[in-house]
Amino acid sequence: MVAGAGLFGLTVAERCARDLGLRVLVVERRGHIGGNAYSEIEPSTGIEVHRYGAHLFHTSNERVWNYVNRFTAFTDYRHRVFTIAGDRVYPMPINLATICAYFGRAMSPGEARAMIAAQAGEVAQPANLEEKAISLVGRPLYEAFIRGYTAKQWQTDPRDLPAEIITRLPMRYTFDDRYFADRYQGLPVDGYTAWLERMADHPLIEVRLGTDFAELGAAGNVPVVYTGPLDGYFGRAEGALGWRTLDFEFEVMPQGDFQGTSVMNYADEHVPYTRVHEFRHFHPERDYPGDRTVIAREYSRFAGPGDEPYYPIGTPADRARLARYRELARAEKDVLFGGRLGTYTYLDMHMAIASALAMYGNRIRPRFRRQACA
Ligand code: FAD
Ligand code: NA
Repeated sequence: MVAGAGLFGLTVAERCARDLGLRVLVVERRGHIGGNAYSEIEPSTGIEVHRYGAHLFHTSNERVWNYVNRFTAFTDYRHRVFTIAGDRVYPMPINLATICAYFGRAMSPGEARAMIAAQAGEVAQPANLEEKAISLVGRPLYEAFIRGYTAKQWQTDPRDLPAEIITRLPMRYTFDDRYFADRYQGLPVDGYTAWLERMADHPLIEVRLGTDFAELGAAGNVPVVYTGPLDGYFGRAEGALGWRTLDFEFEVMPQGDFQGTSVMNYADEHVPYTRVHEFRHFHPERDYPGDRTVIAREYSRFAGPGDEPYYPIGTPADRARLARYRELARAEKDVLFGGRLGTYTYLDMHMAIASALAMYGNRIRPRFRRQACA
């Protein structure tokens, strides 16, 4: 049994059914498969929208790339992000074009490096996130691009956040403004849902939607791969693990193009949202209407009990709880914990798939192969 029909659970189910010939029951709490990679068509425009935030596939892992291409082809979409700071637009992550535009003059990579190093030298021993960021990029770029955005992401003044939240900030001293450096990237040609449905489309796989694993009382009867929240599995016995969540405000706009690009960040603190997604720009190859477009404004906050967990926070208290949950998980007979919720780790899609393939190869296949030979 697999609990959770996200990319981790679907990869495990697909391998067990196709490679081992096992019958697999996938139980999924939501009313659809695909986990957070799920997308749907906005009915009045026909535009594919990502309900849980924009998902861009990218990987340098050959094995993962070959695996996903069994289920879908990918477009040649290359992700780029821009940010509005003050009344100007700049490319992100901060690169030489951003630096030259912000300081209003042409600089060579060496000149830009020397200038940023001098500005960053202001802080020797960072005591909070603000000082840490200044020690990495200098005060001017911090104030323009990082302070407001970070304050909105955490709903906290960066001076009150621990320095450890960031170890590095992406900075490029070239004009390369591609968001991902990976060898392979693109969007599934027929959309995410077609891809994810093809993974589950096997006579040995049964998917039961709207079904919470906890309510089945199945633990102990069959081997389980559990991809729901780790603390939830144990009834939060060691306390709740902290997450940030996002709110998406979708709107159909009465124009063909709202912002000219797929993702626009808003660096300034007085703008309440962190980014605006415009979904038509993910698929310029599609025949979308010319007089309407769909956008989603994204807001960030701490997750409460009923909210979707999106990004693990990982405070020292979270880390201590996580260590205790991991001990409990190790002792749980015939249950493997995987995926972003089951391990309390941020995983990109290619990482979730790679980690599911590794669990399958190292833990699941050897066990059932032995059983088949015995
Ligand atoms: P999930 O997709 O979360 O799937 C877990 C499933 O388990 C869910 O469907 C859930 O409903 C179900 N479940 C939970 N508890 C239970 C239970 N008790 N019983 C039954 N079912 C249960 N990755 C990229 O590569 N590119 C991106 O651009 C990208 N953008 C992202 C943007 C956001 C806002 C977020 C949060 C993530 C993004 N990701 C991106 C990461 C991507 O979403 C994950 O890699 C992927 O979701 C991991 O799959 P998963 O199966 O581990 O988890
Ligand atoms: Na994303």
